[in-house]
Order: sequence, then structure tokens, then C-alpha cells
Amino acid sequence: MTDITKLPEPATIILAGATGELGFLIAGFILKRGGVVKALVRQGSSNPRVSELRRIGAEIIEVDFADVDELTRACAGGTCVVSALSGLRDVIVDMQMRLLNAAVAAGIPRFIPSDFSIDFTKLPDGSNRNLDLRREFGRMLNDAPIAATSILNGMFTDLLTGQAPVVLFKIKRVLYWGNADQPMDFTTMRDTADYTAAAALDPTTPRYLRIAGEVATIRDIQRAASEATGEKFGTLRPGGLGFLGTMIKITRTLSPQNDEVFPPWQGMQYLHNMLSGKPKMSPLDNDRYPDIRWTRIREVLAAR
Ligand SMILES: NC(=O)c1ccc[n+]([C@@H]2O[C@H](COP(=O)([O-])OP(=O)(O)OC[C@H]3O[C@@H](n4cnc5c(N)ncnc54)[C@H](OP(=O)(O)O)[C@@H]3O)[C@@H](O)[C@H]2O)c1
Repeated sequence: MTDITKLPEPATIILAGATGELGFLIAGFILKRGGVVKALVRQGSSNPRVSELRRIGAEIIEVDFADVDELTRACAGGTCVVSALSGLRDVIVDMQMRLLNAAVAAGIPRFIPSDFSIDFTKLPDGSNRNLDLRREFGRMLNDAPIAATSILNGMFTDLLTGQAPVVLFKIKRVLYWGNADQPMDFTTMRDTADYTAAAALDPTTPRYLRIAGEVATIRDIQRAASEATGEKFGTLRPGGLGFLGTMIKITRTLSPQNDEVFPPWQGMQYLHNMLSGKPKMSPLDNDRYPDIRWTRIREVLAAR
């Protein structure tokens, strides 16, 4: 007969940002994979996702994210902290730093920051405001006495049917600058969340895990759009990457929106980075959790 006092404790993941788009999916996948989720949410949060998180089995801990002692108490007993917070310097550097200090003080062995992006380790400072902040936090994370793992997933494929004006459905064109044959990395938010959940529950992850649900060029996206819609898509190239760089400068000057996390010029910086090929990831760690089935760009475009 099994001695239940000897059964291993399920891994307990302390999740910040669980009320967000990605964080909520991560919570669901951790629970599905048998882990315990303790979701840190803002005090008095009125986000409807709080009750949804409770309903799916997460424990909710309301915290003052400005208070490291409170965060430390909330982290007690965790096996890994996962941050899916989104924001600018006050969140990505300052708040994640407090969370990191709390994780270290609570003796948590592992930390997964809210990186979830193209491979910013290969990008120069100044080429992408949001990724500069992640590199800055990453340097402090490297110096902290805790094991860290960043999940780098390229662009969320989902953006191709939303915020990223790449597939122009109305005029049946795929918009790009530079080289239409440049390979780029795409992963859906859902697949990224599932992989992150698996990594959070895996005690042996390395500093970086790089994934791409699909590696695609502009011509591949053009083909995927044609197959998904049954209509022939062309391409639209206003110019080279130098021209896109100038457009970014003009847009940033005319419409700075510096307090926005994703103003149009920042999305353009992201596209510029990807089309430059600099953040292209290789090798990929897709096979680390073989149960994950990667969603194709064609499927995302067809489901829009
Ligand atoms: N690779 C890509 O293409 C791509 C695209 C989009 C996003 N991302 C990344 O994915 C990650 C998650 O993004 P998301 O879209 O899921 O973000 P989101 O939906 O905006 O959620 C952000 C989460 O952070 C919390 N948060 C933000 N500011 C906070 C503060 N001051 N105090 C406490 N909590 C705060 C929010 O809490 P409340 O609910 O209380 O506000 C929410 O839980 C980010 O790193 C983002 O950059 C990547």
C-alpha cells in the first residue's frame, strides 16, 4: 500500500500577472499539468479573471506589489516564480526586481521573467524600447542567487490577425520591408503558455529556452494566408529596412505615446528587428516537452 506521507508534494508555482492574457493561460496549463498555482493579484482587484482563476483551481493571494516583505510572505513554499506581468520600466524592471528579491528571500529555487519575445539577447540597445527593459532586468537576474529561465517565443502568431498589420486581409497583401525570404519565429500565445507551464514545473531548465511554433518568411505567410482564405494573396513592400527605420523615427516623433506599452512605433521596432534577421533563434528547444502540438500560422489565419 502507498504511504501517502511519502508522496511528493506537487510543485507550487507563484504566478504574477495571472489576470493577463498570457498569465491566465499559463495558470490553466499549470493546473492541467498537475501543479499548484498561487496567483498574486493586486489588492482589491476587480478583474473578472480573479474569480475565473479561483474557479479553475488557483489560489488567489492579494498583494501590494510595492511591498517586498508582503511579496516574500506570498512566495513562501513556491518551487518557481513565473512573471507574466506586462508594462514599462516600473513593471518590467522595478516591480519584477521586487518580485525577484522576494523570491530569493523566500528561498524559491527558480524564476521565469516576463520575457516572452523575440531573442533580445542578440539585439543592440536602442533597437526596441520594450526589449531593452528586458535585457536590463535580465542582467540583474543573472546576478541574483536563483536559477533563471527566459522563454523566448518570437512573435505571438495571434498578432497576425490583430495588432500586427502584416497580413492585410482587405487588400489581400502581406506587408513587409526588406527581404521577403528572411526566416522569422512565431508561436501562438496558447502554445507559449503551455510550454511555460511545462518549464515552470521542470526543475532542470537552462537559462534560455527558445521556441517557435513555426519559422516562416514573408513568402510563407503569403502562402499561409492564401491557403487559409482560399484567395490569392500578394505582397506589399514599401521599401527596405532603412525606410522602415525612418518611418519609426517619424511615427515616434509625431505620436510618441511614451506611456503606452505597445504604441505603434514599438510594434514597428518589433517588425524591424524580426525582418533584420538578428533575433532569429537557432537551435530551438521545441522538442523538450513532446506533448505540445505546435499551431501553424495557417491555422491561426483560418480561425480569425
Ligand atoms: N511576443 C509577443 O509577440 C508578445 C505579444 C504580446 C505580449 N507579449 C508579452 O507577454 C507578456 C504578457 O503580456 P499580456 O499581453 O498577457 O499582458 P496583459 O494582458 O496586459 O496582462 C498584464 C498582467 O500584468 C499585470 N500588471 C500590469 N501592471 C501591473 C501593476 N502595476 N501591478 C500589478 N500587476 C500589474 C496585470 O494585472 P491587472 O489585470 O490587475 O491589470 C495583468 O495580470 C508580456 O511580457 C508581454 O510583453 C509578447
